[in-house]
Amino acid sequence: MKSLQGKEILLGITGGIAAYKSAMLCSDLIKLKASVTVMMTENATHFVGPLTFSTLTSRPVYSNMWAAEQVYDPQHISLTDKADLIVVAPATANIIGKMTNGICDDLLSTTLCGANCDILLAPAMNTRMWQYPATQRNLKTLNSDGIHFVGPGTGRLACGTEGAGRMSEPAEILEKIIELIGK
Ligand SMILES: Cc1cc2nc3c(=O)[nH]c(=O)nc-3n(C[C@H](O)[C@H](O)[C@H](O)COP(=O)(O)O)c2cc1C
Repeated sequence: MKSLQGKEILLGITGGIAAYKSAMLCSDLIKLKASVTVMMTENATHFVGPLTFSTLTSRPVYSNMWAAEQVYDPQHISLTDKADLIVVAPATANIIGKMTNGICDDLLSTTLCGANCDILLAPAMNTRMWQYPATQRNLKTLNSDGIHFVGPGTGRLACGTEGAGRMSEPAEILEKIIELIGK
């Protein structure tokens, strides 16, 4: 039986329709005994509610960089200090672009910039966004920066078209996580 016991995973969720699948991924990680903290972009909260993830993880969900103004705990640093792996699923074209260019304008992008562990991205987007030259350039750069990827696959997309850009299924993402940090 594979286990993620003792592993701290920071699960980043960005604003794509595949965000609903991240709840299943989160639940699967918990079943394998991982400790999971969820960080959502403001845009991701339009797709799935933070309550889903705080309930699954029994932990607060982080999305606002300024929520901890009253306590000295810069979470973009403290949360990565503890993490064995950061997984961003789904990873939008936007977060991929921001990571490539070192843009830190919200909690998740700032956290990724200060990561102290491996990062795994599960991209998900419309085929034209996936094929957009800047997206492809960004992927090459992140690849050579040592960022790990899983997917995307090809198939039916939420926008009703068929093609590349479909987020990998939670089971496939889980396999990749186990390959990176599992026992
Ligand atoms: C209904 C809907 C679905 C979307 N799906 C995606 C998607 O699958 N992938 C993507 O890259 N952007 C998608 N977008 C666009 C992003 O939400 C937008 O680029 C946003 O700025 C991403 O912000 P974030 O990366 O901070 O979460 C979608 C937008 C809407 C309104």
